[in-house]
Amino acid sequence: TKDWNGIDQVVLRVPRGASARVSLHGGQVISWRNERGEELLFSSSKAIFKPPKAMRGGIPICFPQFGNCGSLEQHGFARNKMWSIDDDPPPLNTNDGSERVSVNLLLKPSEDDLKCWPHCFEFRLKISLAMDGDLTMISRVRNINGKPYTFSFAYHTYLSVSDISEVRIEGLETLDYLDNLVQRERFTEQGDAVTFESEVDRIYLGSPNVIAVLDHEKKRTFVIRKEGLPDVVVWNPWEKKSKSMVDLGDDEYKQMLCVDGAVIEKPITLKPGEEWTGLLELSAVPSTYCSDH
Ligand code: BG6
Repeated sequence: TKDWNGIDQVVLRVPRGASARVSLHGGQVISWRNERGEELLFSSSKAIFKPPKAMRGGIPICFPQFGNCGSLEQHGFARNKMWSIDDDPPPLNTNDGSERVSVNLLLKPSEDDLKCWPHCFEFRLKISLAMDGDLTMISRVRNINGKPYTFSFAYHTYLSVSDISEVRIEGLETLDYLDNLVQRERFTEQGDAVTFESEVDRIYLGSPNVIAVLDHEKKRTFVIRKEGLPDVVVWNPWEKKSKSMVDLGDDEYKQMLCVDGAVIEKPITLKPGEEWTGLLELSAVPSTYCSDH
């Protein structure tokens, strides 16, 4: 299908009713719904769907840079580019054999991209929906250059939550993190879970491969499983920053939480011909936790 700007979108749907919608602009997942039709990803009511900027919500791809510490635009250019459908992707060896519907996308650098980041790559992104509604994304970046180069990466995942003040993240306790609010200074997480009462913008380092985001009011837990993605970005802009963002409603920060599988602290270096793979799997399951857990 096409959106109202004429940009191609791919809809994945499984028989029990779960679905995902992917825009070729940015290779961005812009919707993920469970079998009851409930939207699981946040999208801003003020989102701008017009290129060149990424839509505020869903899962933008941050590549080849996360943040604004490098030479490129914030979060790199991949989320602002048109991707194409990859009809003949090379085989993947991570296939677990379970039945799923998928789309394969491809991004190669344009002349302009090469001017600001002079490294040839093929970025293959496979997005799949399993029969039970789990969403899997597999990114493969291949160096087709004559020289090694380095990049950072994140699946900038905007989860939809009922009330940010009631949400907790489990799996990041005791980890070190870099705090983007104080020039990436390093701290250690002291709480027994991450909870929210003000702006948070952190990069948790060396995290376990499974973390959980518990939304008590919706009685839903997002389980995030990842491979090749040691870091986890946790971001909520809270009240003041939201007001300064044109594409986010003033109160919408209450309904969103970004939890990104990422590679930031120790960027990936690829030698000529080498390939890197980063996998993210999202499940939304009814919580088995009581509210006073
Ligand atoms: C987060 C960063 O991941 O993305 C924040 O840590 C940033 O610092 C946010 O504000 C949103 O970035 P952007 O470019 O999509 O507005």
